[in-house]
Amino acid sequence: MKIQQNVQLQAFNTLNLPALASHYCQIHQPEELIPALTFAQQHDLNVLVLSGGSNMLLPEKIQALVLHMAIHGIEVTAEDAQTKTLTVGAGEVWHDFVLFTTTQQLYGLQNLALIPGLVGASPVQNIGAYGVEAGEFIEHVSVYDRNEQCFKQIAAADCHFSYRHSIFKDEPNRYIITQVSFKLLKNPSFKLNYGDLKQAVGENLSAENLQQQVIQIRQSKLPDPKEYPNVGSFFKNPVITAVAYERLACQFPNLPHYPQPNGDVKIAAGWLIDQAGWKGKRLGAVGMFHKQALVLVNYAQATLVDVQATYHAVQQDVLQKFNIHLEPEPVLFNQMGLIQSHTG
Ligand code: EPU
Repeated sequence: MKIQQNVQLQAFNTLNLPALASHYCQIHQPEELIPALTFAQQHDLNVLVLSGGSNMLLPEKIQALVLHMAIHGIEVTAEDAQTKTLTVGAGEVWHDFVLFTTTQQLYGLQNLALIPGLVGASPVQNIGAYGVEAGEFIEHVSVYDRNEQCFKQIAAADCHFSYRHSIFKDEPNRYIITQVSFKLLKNPSFKLNYGDLKQAVGENLSAENLQQQVIQIRQSKLPDPKEYPNVGSFFKNPVITAVAYERLACQFPNLPHYPQPNGDVKIAAGWLIDQAGWKGKRLGAVGMFHKQALVLVNYAQATLVDVQATYHAVQQDVLQKFNIHLEPEPVLFNQMGLIQSHTG
């Protein structure tokens, strides 16, 4: 374990924000966390855990110890007639892991192909797409618990997975995820209830084809971070009460909406932003993507300040037109490496 000073994180975050870290260290084995955390404590530094950098907003300077998770490996850790459990290092690339499960004829994660980021971040916001959430297949998460100062496993039921949420968001500084165990299905299982996925898959019902169709749909709408630096959906889809939805629907009958099991209604943030005139619109170096208004893009060497100016303007326009507050999805960090609320 080697601690470096003044390391530029621009290449390590998909929004390509310049962010100079005072201290930086790569973690290749779970045990390396102990000396790294001791160093942080001795030098009075906060700890910022960096995974694929695909869901973070970083300031230009960070006075903290950045732990860059690079724990690798995929192991079969349990198996029965119906399922196989794979335990995966936090540093594995998510999309490569999904491709691997498909080559192994294991079912479940195909709808989550091409989501950027690393495996270790998947439980944090319970990544989801096309009707599937990672939490449905997570068996347990291996962590270092900074409060109790020990390694432990947290069963999926105790992770409290919900839409873009888990306990790892409730207690952001407590756990460092080292591995994630996924219980996948040996028998064919396909979720095709999202949008036109069923039509796209057609008669050829196989894991490979489903995965391929998901990849194509994503590529047709979502910008490649290498070409257009972005963090995927920039805002969460707001969930409002049925009463609030009915009121809104009177005025905006075309508003895409998804009734939730508890009676609330999820509405499409992308549509709201689009209707507020922000699809393809830029404010300086930062704008909302022309093919999908929910994705914010750094077009030209923007800093966090530029990103904030744009997303605050989007929030304001949506609030004015629809009286709906849009909550950003990526995690905002301050200059001390701590997670900060988007509301200040
Ligand atoms: N829409 C517009 N204009 C736009 C964008 C969207 O009118 O510019 C409308 C669409 O026509 C559609 C609705 O809004 O009726 C929803 O759009 P879409 O199906 O593209 O999905 P989404 O709500 O924008 C969510 C996830 C994505 C995930 C897709 C597919 C959130 C915040 N986003 O997007 O996740 O890939 O569904 O499941 O839940 C991510 O989190 O980074 C991400 C990409």
